[in-house]
Amino acid sequence: MSARNLSLQPPLLEVRAVGKRYATRAVLENITFGIARGEIVSLVGPSGCGKSTLLRVLAGLDRGFDGEVRLDGLAQRGPSARLGVIFQEPRLLPWLSVADNVAFSAGPRQGGDPRVARLLDEVGLASTGATLPKQLSGGMAQRVALARGLFPQPDLLLLDEPFSAVDAMTRMRLQDLLLSLTRAHGTAALIVTHDLDEALYLSDRVLLLNTAGPHGAGRLVRETAVTARHPRDRRDTALAELRNTLLDGISATPPAYA
Ligand SMILES: Nc1ncnc2c1ncn2[C@@H]1O[C@H](COP(=O)(O)OP(=O)(O)OP(=O)(O)O)[C@@H](O)[C@H]1O
Ligand SMILES: [Mg+2]
Repeated sequence: MSARNLSLQPPLLEVRAVGKRYATRAVLENITFGIARGEIVSLVGPSGCGKSTLLRVLAGLDRGFDGEVRLDGLAQRGPSARLGVIFQEPRLLPWLSVADNVAFSAGPRQGGDPRVARLLDEVGLASTGATLPKQLSGGMAQRVALARGLFPQPDLLLLDEPFSAVDAMTRMRLQDLLLSLTRAHGTAALIVTHDLDEALYLSDRVLLLNTAGPHGAGRLVRETAVTARHPRDRRDTALAELRNTLLDGISATPPAYA
């Protein structure tokens, strides 16, 4: 367990016995975990095990689930400004300037807000406020999406494979940017990723979701604490060992409907 997680404060996010069905099929079963303030947690697991479904439930985008999701002790019912969501694609509105996209949660054309310029500066795009999204590279557009996600000053960012559409070098830069942004803003993050190295580089804890149990629904099957200090070395052998543990966890889990 990470040092931050040992604090006496109640968790920022509490997920209790969450289950989700599509028609008669159970997709998630008995998901229970917490995230502390400022903590970075990754969620990994094979394709189709329910990672995006869980993120949608936590984001309040899907209310048809069992169990409870609490933020600071209050039951979550629908989307909240305290939870920012970032998807694999930047999903910027093409007819709005970069600045207006960043401030979109405040209204359609609020890009003049001084906080927008500060955020664009933080994500390394100080001079792009007036440009349109089509003028940006994929990595730049995802930086704008990070700025937009942070604009409402959320306590928790939920990210679904946020860097999987960019090249390897851009991905590493975006990982470092995410770490510096979450630290600077005190924001916690839950990051869904297929990349175990990314999970281990970024996170205080890695949660492994896999299809398990009699119904083949996604369950949390392992939790791995990552205590290496930041800045981390991507070639750290301790991280490589943790990667092997996670790989064992993925292959040891019985397949769905076993
Ligand atoms: N709207 C839906 N209706 C019915 N079944 C769905 C729906 N959305 C997802 N599913 C099913 O739920 C299961 C989990 O899907 P989900 O997208 O959460 O997986 P995932 O872990 O995010 O996969 P990936 O890593 O490929 O993104 C899959 O079997 C999928 O087919
Ligand atoms: Mg997914």
